[in-house]
Amino acid sequence: QDAHAAEMERTFIAIKPDGVQRGLISEIVARFERKGFKLVAIKLVVPSKDFAQKHYHDLKERPFFNGLCDFLSSGPVLAMVWEGEGVIKYGRKLIGATDPQKSEPGTIRGDLAVVVGRNIIHGSDGPETAKDEIKLWFKPEELNTCTINSEKWVY
Ligand code: TYD
Repeated sequence: QDAHAAEMERTFIAIKPDGVQRGLISEIVARFERKGFKLVAIKLVVPSKDFAQKHYHDLKERPFFNGLCDFLSSGPVLAMVWEGEGVIKYGRKLIGATDPQKSEPGTIRGDLAVVVGRNIIHGSDGPETAKDEIKLWFKPEELNTCTINSEKWVY
């Protein structure tokens, strides 16, 4: 792994069971691709409830925690790692506000979702969470570390 790859920012993005069931995978992946971010890992998984609780551990005191974990473990989730300059913050911008009633049109939640409990997508909210979430969802060997032409990556 060269210095360039080691420094590149990464974030964890997941299409939740509602987004997968509604056939929104290609629509959502396309938005990250078209922006110019680089896909470094992708897999379809059905998380256990225990795994969902680990993923959302920061929210365990919230009243919606149990329902949220039931929901995340209710079907296939498309787990991804995206890479690029500023991808953590800009990924959140592409996703839009947590409550789709408040997400701007043009954002993923603004364009494609209606209620907070079914807001179709997750994205890490900062560098520490991104690191933790990538580690929770992916084994190191599942991340694409190929650096051929990485210096020529077109934004
Ligand atoms: P949170 O981490 O606050 O939002 P985000 O996904 O934008 O980082 O909350 C995690 C998920 O919990 C959120 O995507 C949807 C769900 N949720 C509710 O169901 N009800 C709520 O009132 C809130 C704040 C979140």
